[in-house]
Amino acid sequence: MLFRSNQTARRSFASAAAMLVAACAGVAQAATYTMYRDPGCGCCLAWADHMEQGEKHEIKTVDHPDMSAVKAERGVPGDLRSCHTLIADGYVIEGHVPAADVERLLAERPEGVTGLAVAGMPMGSPGMEHGAHRQAFEVIAFGPAGRSVRASYPGTSS
Ligand code: CU
Ligand code: CU
Repeated sequence: MLFRSNQTARRSFASAAAMLVAACAGVAQAATYTMYRDPGCGCCLAWADHMEQGEKHEIKTVDHPDMSAVKAERGVPGDLRSCHTLIADGYVIEGHVPAADVERLLAERPEGVTGLAVAGMPMGSPGMEHGAHRQAFEVIAFGPAGRSVRASYPGTSS
């Protein structure tokens, strides 16, 4: 009798500890970033899926009726604007920026950079896939330090 109740107590302690470890690991891995989007647009959701691959972070979606106000408030230059605007750890990510470039920004944290942008909606960028066809596009860093090209993706010839 005594042996049996001990076993039960030990087992429930072990499972509670396992749950705590799982909860902590979850917190350490997944940061939540907020993506503002126009509710009428769908490619932003495809891009959010791309960003969530690898489960390093979660994207929280906020539908916003006035996206140009969001962009103005966050300092996104007019000619670099796209559809959605993500806030990641204080950085502004505008449009269909590849996840790898976001990761690199967050790791390197270059001085004078407010964020990254892929202007417009290039066909074949993440979330804008269209078969194997890709339009050339650039990832531009913007901010007080000025602008610089962080990555260039060549187009496919067709
Ligand atoms: Cu888009
Ligand atoms: Cu969109």
